Amino acid sequence: MLINSSCLKYSSTYTRVNIRSIHNSLLSQINPAPPDKILGLTEFYNNDPNPAKVNLTVGIYKDNNGHVTTFPSVLKAQSLVNHNYNQKNHNLAYLPINGSQFYSENVLKFIWNDSVMGLGQDYISHDKINFIQTLSGTGAIAITAKFLSSFLSNSIWLPNYSWPNHLNIFKQNGFSKENIFKYDYYNHQTGEISIENWLDQLKNSVPTSKRSTPQCILLHACCHNPTGVDPTREQWKLIIDTIHDLKMIPIIDMAYQGLESGNLIDDAYLLRICLEKGDWSNGLYLCQSFAKNMGLYGERVGSLSILTPLDSHANLKDNIDSQLKPIIRSVYSSPPGYGSHVANQVLSDNDLKLEWFNDVKNMVDRLHSIRLKLFDNLNWSDLINFKQQHGMFYFTRFNQSQVNVLKKKYSIYLTDDGRLSLSGINDSNIDYISQALYDVSKS
Ligand SMILES: Cc1ncc(COP(=O)(O)O)c(C=O)c1O
Repeated sequence: MLINSSCLKYSSTYTRVNIRSIHNSLLSQINPAPPDKILGLTEFYNNDPNPAKVNLTVGIYKDNNGHVTTFPSVLKAQSLVNHNYNQKNHNLAYLPINGSQFYSENVLKFIWNDSVMGLGQDYISHDKINFIQTLSGTGAIAITAKFLSSFLSNSIWLPNYSWPNHLNIFKQNGFSKENIFKYDYYNHQTGEISIENWLDQLKNSVPTSKRSTPQCILLHACCHNPTGVDPTREQWKLIIDTIHDLKMIPIIDMAYQGLESGNLIDDAYLLRICLEKGDWSNGLYLCQSFAKNMGLYGERVGSLSILTPLDSHANLKDNIDSQLKPIIRSVYSSPPGYGSHVANQVLSDNDLKLEWFNDVKNMVDRLHSIRLKLFDNLNWSDLINFKQQHGMFYFTRFNQSQVNVLKKKYSIYLTDDGRLSLSGINDSNIDYISQALYDVSKS
């Protein structure tokens, strides 16, 4: 009894002291941040009791039963990798900071030889590519941002619209708010590319004097997220000419290779256009991901390539490599192993690689068939006009209040910019979704 009351006395004094110290602490000045623009919505969806609810927010491919499936090629690669783990005494040790050597060799070849149809050969043979395995596409962009802001430039142009995480990544990694600009590449009224605006804006705003710091520009390689609208090859050539003339630093985000045409090689057209342009004096940066096109989302498998000019000095590659390592070490130390072994298995076995190409084609065919079915119900031409839109998402061009009605009245969840993930639509919910989209379009 005595012991208990003294404990009580002690604990109440302790609590009082603690409360006072929290009031005086800087911790009390931390305000809540807004929820993540995409992943935050899934939390609302999970708490929605409506049995008819549909989550069309996240870019994850689902089959007609609403399941996240693994591609047959990837399943086979997994079983080979698992077998090797057992038979060859492979272990779960750390990968090197730059990732697995085998993965790097195979992915480098897949991108800078196969995907660009040999146009990268000079860079490979002159050893001008810094290649690292990264923590998926996000990790590649974050490492690029840290590297660029430390050594070359802390100003960047992002597309208006873009994947919301782009702004977040650059803000968190050395680019201040005042140095993040938006280029108007898209006409919301017509749903088409606004090429003149885009080029004029860059020509009028990017400083060209020799003493000015070069400015970076982020480009979506294909399947622009969220609009699904990409420039034509001819438009890209004009854009790349302008960016090159302005000595800008291109950062290419290639998260959807294969999801535009169904052909992984065709979809690397922007890389080919950049290589045809010649050297990029401050480097060309490619942030690539296997999340969508191999379905390795949670395994976090991607890469960063930095192409430096062919006449750059002999030590440059090692110097860049040595600077990337402490950056990576300070953030995630080294990339995850298992998923990269699976991707490496797919890429290093010709039969599996062909099967993977086919799997990507099947996924894109199903995405297109959903567009067709929605078109049958709604008769909205941008659903099936390839020039106006393609890829994993449909950009409804709904405003925020229309998106809110879909969420509150129908429990259909889109991102706030009006983007919906097509593969969340299937035979059992398409009529419900079509009706809701139609109703909201009339409001
Ligand atoms: C435009 C864009 N870039 C990059 C990524 C990076 O994805 P991850 O980090 O999953 O590879 C995504 C994913 O949704 C994306 O949409």
